[in-house]
Amino acid sequence: MMNLQALKWILVVGARPNFMKIAPLMRAIKKHNGERRTLNIEPTLVHTGQHYNYDMSQVFFQDLELPQPDIHLGVGSGTHSEQTGRIMIQFEKVLFNERPDLVIVAGDVNSTLACALASVKLHIPVAHIEAGLRSFDRTMPEEINRLLTDAISDYLFTPSPDADENLKKEGIPEDKIFLVGDVMVDSLLFNLEKAKKTHILERLSLQPAQQPTSNNLQSSIVNRKSVRPYVLLTLHRPSNVDNKDAFLRIINALTEISNRIPIVFPIHPRTRKRLAEFGLDNLQSAIRNLQLLDPIGYLDFLNLMMHSTFVMTDSGGIQEETTVLGIPCLTLRDTTERPITISSGTNVLVWNDTQKIVEEALKVLDGQCEKGNCPDLWDGNAAERIINIINDKKL
Ligand code: UD1
Repeated sequence: MMNLQALKWILVVGARPNFMKIAPLMRAIKKHNGERRTLNIEPTLVHTGQHYNYDMSQVFFQDLELPQPDIHLGVGSGTHSEQTGRIMIQFEKVLFNERPDLVIVAGDVNSTLACALASVKLHIPVAHIEAGLRSFDRTMPEEINRLLTDAISDYLFTPSPDADENLKKEGIPEDKIFLVGDVMVDSLLFNLEKAKKTHILERLSLQPAQQPTSNNLQSSIVNRKSVRPYVLLTLHRPSNVDNKDAFLRIINALTEISNRIPIVFPIHPRTRKRLAEFGLDNLQSAIRNLQLLDPIGYLDFLNLMMHSTFVMTDSGGIQEETTVLGIPCLTLRDTTERPITISSGTNVLVWNDTQKIVEEALKVLDGQCEKGNCPDLWDGNAAERIINIINDKKL
């Protein structure tokens, strides 16, 4: 009989965009163990508690069928140093107790860097999922998290060839870099059918948009019969919402766009807080045709996204999701760490420039939108590739 070697892995989640990146890995580990290969993986899921509201965290466990965390660090909010420091202190205790063979972190949030740093200091190997993305804007907290996490990680799993190039230019040895595709797309494709069945459109009295389909996947996803289309908006980057002038420039654009089409805006807690601080909490009544919602779960959001006329966002992941769905995306930023969503996908950068936002929105409304293609390896199998590489290399 073959001897099964047991490997202890810790997988880290902390903030909202982590959940959909780790869920496919948990599934791939289960499948791998079911196939009884030479390595049996014992996963421990650690939640740092960076995000903690039901609608920023728990709803994603339900929607993505993620197992409940084995360990919850409960660190909560704080300044960058407070949050990063608290996660490191708590996570180090977990590392002492669990002595894992590998720690897996994803994305670019404070939890990603904090857990990677605590691990390498104890000589525990780290795998970084979604490595190599660069906006080249070091004022973004995420860019610092990406640069540092990549510099100290042992295994760098990248979503697209531009990420490999960035890492090589930074002097990272090629044998640490593995192009595997996008785990976020794994979650999207896995959950698409379920997402179509949620009742969010009826709940909000919305109808799906009818617009030219821009790729095959999109036309197979949605039957676009419709009467009352809408735009889906998300906004939470500090550079847009912590600065009143920038925020007002975006609000001015929204006011104009809402004369043509209703806007649906699930609002991030950071953004809601700033609106109150800036005395702008009358936004809903000030802009005709704006629906402000609390943050919504993964499946409802996918449903809203796939049926929208277009999306406006400053999120990173949504640029990828709209590219896969073939939905036009106006990104409210001046840089992106995901340039492939512009060169191959449906993404256009409009920053917080009122005129540019309105111009690009009108182009889409007049039918002149980007026709996107899905990048290579964004096919739903990235997590399995990661597990296979680790298995082959016996990392
Ligand atoms: C974090 C990530 C960002 C990611 C975003 C997704 C970092 C540096 N930033 O930004 O990359 O795109 O998550 O949401 O890691 N809050 C709540 N409830 C929660 C979570 C947050 O009320 O469950 C409020 C708190 O007031 C907190 C503020 O939102 O101070 C900001 O949260 P934080 O995690 O610091 O940063 P995000 O803006 O969410």
